[in-house]
Amino acid sequence: MKRSKATIIFVCQNCGSNSPRWIGKCPACGEWNTYVEEIGTKEKTGPVIRSKSKPVLINEISSENEQRIKTDIAEMDRVLGGGLISGSTVLIGGDPGIGKSTLALQIFGRYSENGIKVLYITGEESADQIKIRADRLNVNGENLYVVTETNIDTIINNIENACPHVVVIDSIQTIYSADLPSAPGTVGQIRECASKIIMYAKNKGISFFLIGHVTKEGSIAGPKVLEHLVDTVLYFEGGKSHPFRILRAVKNRYGSTNEIGVFEMTNDGLNEVSNPSEIFLLERPLNYSGSVVTPSIEGTRPILVEIQALVSPCNFGVPRRTTIGLDQGRVSLLVAVLEERAGLHITSQDIFMNVAGGVKIEEPAADLGICISLVSSFLNKPVSPETTVFGEVGLSGEIRGVSQVDVRLKEAEKLGFRRFILPKINNDKLSHKASKQKYMGIENISQAIEILFD
Ligand code: TYD
Ligand code: MG
Repeated sequence: MKRSKATIIFVCQNCGSNSPRWIGKCPACGEWNTYVEEIGTKEKTGPVIRSKSKPVLINEISSENEQRIKTDIAEMDRVLGGGLISGSTVLIGGDPGIGKSTLALQIFGRYSENGIKVLYITGEESADQIKIRADRLNVNGENLYVVTETNIDTIINNIENACPHVVVIDSIQTIYSADLPSAPGTVGQIRECASKIIMYAKNKGISFFLIGHVTKEGSIAGPKVLEHLVDTVLYFEGGKSHPFRILRAVKNRYGSTNEIGVFEMTNDGLNEVSNPSEIFLLERPLNYSGSVVTPSIEGTRPILVEIQALVSPCNFGVPRRTTIGLDQGRVSLLVAVLEERAGLHITSQDIFMNVAGGVKIEEPAADLGICISLVSSFLNKPVSPETTVFGEVGLSGEIRGVSQVDVRLKEAEKLGFRRFILPKINNDKLSHKASKQKYMGIENISQAIEILFD
């Protein structure tokens, strides 16, 4: 019987056609730069191997061995959906220098403290450098092993010998497989190494954290392939100039996505921030126009954020729109709604918007907050500091209901807010109806502007 032999083939990531050489433009689908090397096997001539897998009844599969290994870092556990599942692979992506290695080392310190054997594989730093950082972070090292290695097969050997429960690979872009001729960090290498690791993890029940750098465009280098392969994708974000770091789940096979964990980078490592609303509102300027606070839901948790707007006359050319932490398209849409439905001549103005603290807000419930901060800046009238607003704004200027109203209100009340402008439909359903002064249900944007600025 002839043995099949591993060869290198180049496969179009768009249409799947392949070629023995790299091609710039795919002759089949016409896409550019989509060919990636993969390990191919020559057509087999021997008998077909019978697979041993066989269907079983779902009721007969036991779910008892779903074990979660808790890190004891509440912010991290919540993002993971209640702890790390054994045999799962978690990708942590983020800009260089944001604190990924620090986070991994701190998590491993906790595991080690709890008697869980962990292995830190680094391809970027020497073991000495890890040791220096571990001392700085005051990490418990009883069950924490470190190795500097970049060859995937040697790494797997190392894991076999050390028998850890959890492994981190820092970073996936430095690891290579000798089966492929290309350099570490190329798409082919990343895919090959990651799939080997994932297979190994599933077979042995060992969990992996893979650390990945993010490209300028904001995705993990070695494009989407990596995100498809792993079980959980976490992004570690934050401005370099802010001490706050946000860990965001964008994919999670074992928990909710859009969950966030908030950390603060200090001189001795990352600290958990369990009351993010307070911190994000700490430096809020009171009685200044253009600033409004909105309760936003991130995953399962409400966070109060301050939305800031600066509307200024445009001196020449096309008016500028700059937004940080908000979707620019959404802001443009709301500006058009304000112009057409509320009669404010705002489209010809330069508009700058920001969410304080380096947070990113994506949910439509922040629409009303965006509109009110714009109007406040445009009219140069501040919103009273104990007021908070939320609601989705439609194209006709109508205010639409949002979810999890009770949670939002509770968080805002906890932080001292006394006046709530919210969608009428949500207000009508409120169980604890207090005074009308306090909870104001509105139906359209003009009504909100009237209440707040007249
Ligand atoms: P690091 O974890 O090396 O980032 P990454 O692995 O994502 O590239 O963190 C680097 C930054 O964090 C560095 O600029 C220094 C800072 N830092 C602190 O402020 N405090 C600390 O205790 C540590 C370990 C790092
Ligand atoms: Mg690092």
